[in-house]
Amino acid sequence: MRARVFVFTVLLGAGCHSDRDKAIQAEVESLQNCAQMVNAGIRPIAATRDQRFQGKVEAATAVCRGGDVAAQFRATPWVDWANYWGAGDARSKAPEFVTQVNQQANHLGPTGRGIDGALLDLEYQRVELIKFNLFDNNKTYRQYVTGRRGVPGPALKVWAELRLPPAHPNYRDVGGSGEQVCRGELIRARTLTGICNDLRNPLMGSTGQLFARNAEFDTLFPDLGRTELTRNRHGNRPALLKPDPQAISRKLFTRAQSNPAACNDGYGLPGFSKDANCDYQKAPFFNVLAAFWIQFMTHDWFSHLDEGHNAKEFMSVGCGEADRKLGCRPGDRIDQTLVAESGEPGRFTHEGKEYLERAPKTFANHVTAWWDASQIYGYDERSRKRVKRDPADRARLLMPNALLPAFEPADPINPEWAGQEATAFPDNWTIGISFYTNLFAREHNAFVDEFRKVAAQTPDADSGLRNPAKPGAVIRYRDVTPDELFEAGRLVVAAGIAKIHTTEWTPQLLYDEPLYRGMNANWSGLLGGPLGDNKAVADALGQIVTQSFGKSTEVKKAGQWYSVFASGPGIFGLGSQVYADDPVFALLDKNKKDIWDLRNPDHVNGGVNHFGSPFNFPEEFITVYRLHALVPDLIEYRDLQKDANRIQNKIPVIETFRGKATDVMRSRGLGNWALSMGRQRLGLLALQNHPRFLQNVKMGRLESATQQIDVAALDLIRDREHGVPRFNEFRRQYGLRQLTAFDDFIDAHAPTQEQKDLVKLLREIYGQHTCDASEAITDAQLDAAGKPINDCLGRPNGSLVDNAEDVDTVVGWLAESTRPHGFAISETQFVVFILNASRRLFSDRFFTSSFRPEFYSTLGLDWVKNNGPGPAQMEEGTPNGHRQQVSPLKRVLLRAMPELAGELQHVVNAFDPWARDRGEYYSLAWKPRKGAEADEAFQDGAKK
Ligand code: HEM
Repeated sequence: MRARVFVFTVLLGAGCHSDRDKAIQAEVESLQNCAQMVNAGIRPIAATRDQRFQGKVEAATAVCRGGDVAAQFRATPWVDWANYWGAGDARSKAPEFVTQVNQQANHLGPTGRGIDGALLDLEYQRVELIKFNLFDNNKTYRQYVTGRRGVPGPALKVWAELRLPPAHPNYRDVGGSGEQVCRGELIRARTLTGICNDLRNPLMGSTGQLFARNAEFDTLFPDLGRTELTRNRHGNRPALLKPDPQAISRKLFTRAQSNPAACNDGYGLPGFSKDANCDYQKAPFFNVLAAFWIQFMTHDWFSHLDEGHNAKEFMSVGCGEADRKLGCRPGDRIDQTLVAESGEPGRFTHEGKEYLERAPKTFANHVTAWWDASQIYGYDERSRKRVKRDPADRARLLMPNALLPAFEPADPINPEWAGQEATAFPDNWTIGISFYTNLFAREHNAFVDEFRKVAAQTPDADSGLRNPAKPGAVIRYRDVTPDELFEAGRLVVAAGIAKIHTTEWTPQLLYDEPLYRGMNANWSGLLGGPLGDNKAVADALGQIVTQSFGKSTEVKKAGQWYSVFASGPGIFGLGSQVYADDPVFALLDKNKKDIWDLRNPDHVNGGVNHFGSPFNFPEEFITVYRLHALVPDLIEYRDLQKDANRIQNKIPVIETFRGKATDVMRSRGLGNWALSMGRQRLGLLALQNHPRFLQNVKMGRLESATQQIDVAALDLIRDREHGVPRFNEFRRQYGLRQLTAFDDFIDAHAPTQEQKDLVKLLREIYGQHTCDASEAITDAQLDAAGKPINDCLGRPNGSLVDNAEDVDTVVGWLAESTRPHGFAISETQFVVFILNASRRLFSDRFFTSSFRPEFYSTLGLDWVKNNGPGPAQMEEGTPNGHRQQVSPLKRVLLRAMPELAGELQHVVNAFDPWARDRGEYYSLAWKPRKGAEADEAFQDGAKK
């Protein structure tokens, strides 16, 4: 380090151009700060939650990684890495000549330091999230805290609570009252209800299991004022309908309209006239396909509703009469959320501290928690009956005219789903969900067809599949039954979806370099895969991770280091190869032999890690996926046969609700919907940007005078029913810094009048109070002086302070105007995501140790790795500086709709608006690519 400083000093002395002098001087100072950072040593992982990292670094570290800019924003509550070099667009890179002078530019140059620093910060967050934010509701939490028979809780791997109960039809198959280990047919593929993903914890993630939590049980249900800290925090102010959710919706969520008649509350104009218009704030780098993608994902992951229904009891959720002028409805009623348990939870004491055994109320997940495409294939007997298979080849899904058939009267559905296309999860169906369900049904059939083709050519060849009941017997292509092929198809489709989500949707949602690397690391590792240059090291790390750390009963190894080291080889495929000898030396041995064995449950299951807490989504995860603001009111419909640049119609999303989607899908075709949603920008996740139609959805089943519901208001009501902590405590719980006033929502980088006006509105809605410094409000963090945080949030006792503690979490994250570059979500949502997105992979054996031909078939495994049949195809050039495969969704789209070839030729990431010029290095500019200059979407400016 010192030698490099010397080089720069000599250069400075040589009398260079002044800009260059300044840049070099800045780099010299940065390097001096780097030296200070190195001298200070590596930050330890926090021992207690009040010592957590909080995304904030020391001054020297900030300067080393991002110069003065990074140092300047250290005082804000928002994470520092967003201000590091290289974490933004081209302007965030250090001046090029500094990089040139500094020959070790790659990792030691400023941009390298910035990006590496960001990745390091994110890894600290992930490790500490794993350490402090896992709270299971299945009564395993006590063991997590106290440990079991000398094994610390976070290193536990098997729980009696996740055994199949005696009444379960597969109770005997897994071992009954003895040791339970799934075997035979139950481990061959993804089971319908999701049991036996983990061989020794059969119930984990299956349909009907309870949602977990990420926040301490004691901090939940703030409205109930259960603890002194909660009472101090909220002063008994909030309640289920206080502040009024519909009033909040109308004041803080409504999209302002320049021509209300042309929008017509989201219902557009007759004949799908192109003259309709609903204004919305648009994200220039994310398209409508991305909005419906995430709704399609959530239908796979979680559902509080059982067959589209909540509890039987209805409740009034209308706004006060006085607020009627805002456009809300006093007469609205909705069914209450379904509660699984509401009795007082047990308590236990450990090392002098008292804990709750579970959350004060729990809620069941009515679908499997696995990423198993259950929205297509089913999650219980009833939903499976809605899945239509092709009678001519039962391995295929039924698709007359290449589209899904509609439900028939005999199908097990709710009356309101009549006329919809048949699939397992039919709720909240619109053209977007219809699009993806049809697309992946075509993908399923494409896989089956290719398999049949190979089988016809080489019927006696080994398909790679094996039956665990007869593990030694080769299954030739000709032997594969339609049911076996159907299930292999499901595995391939589910893994393809997971790959699209991880390596395509997310890097576009979080459009910057650190996240591109981070997400690819989750999939294929920082060392191997498309970004890495050292496959052998990646493999060795993979072995160490699963063979050593994965089996460890030491907390540090089992949890923290496992997560860090897994960034090397990637989570996907962890443990899918096993070598006999010392893992590192075995890799250097050319003759090494993979001894992974289907008969050995520790091989089949060996790659998973639950970090001591059985996997299910936490309630808090659902909160941050309430993304209704993404949806536009009107779809700008285009026709591939006419002119892709022209908007032909404006079709209201609500006019495609439920059965209405079937007609518009059939009459207009999948390809035109792909083009239309691919080119249109989605709605920014921001305040005052919710679709009008969702505030006014008509639902015939509701027992109310209005038979209407405001879904945006319902998002707040449901979170309050589910006891999600309010925004400030939510952030503290996740190791983020609290806000001390509503003014913290103003972006210090670029304050605007609009942001200031919103702060006023927040103050009007949530109010202020005179604070009492003697009242501690949290034990999750301490203040800067190491003292308990109190009601005054750093202000003098008796001051008038904002009720920052009361802000609904959804309102809070929508209000965050300070965001890392290219982030379509806020940092608060993102932190929830860091933890749960990687756990969803870590816990699933089909993405780790069972990512093998024995389950997927050889063709299936290669299909997932290469994004389709045949060898991997590479994208031309180096988008944002990376060589990359042709994206997985682009390949799926091309297979399903060859007519899109011309349009997709220009597309690198299918979620980036298709006619946008991506420019250089993470540009967010809204300008047309070559050939699309005439596209009407570029003529209306970004705001309209
Ligand atoms: C475009 C049409 C959409 C419609 C009509 C719709 C409708 C609804 C309705 C009525 C609910 C309330 C269910 C209840 O609690 O009683 C709901 C919940 C929800 N919606 Fe949407 N939604 C749409 C799009 C989206 C999108 C794009 C997302 C993005 C992720 C999304 C995410 C959610 C989530 C996370 C819930 C909570 C589900 C649960 O509690 O299990 N929705 N939606």
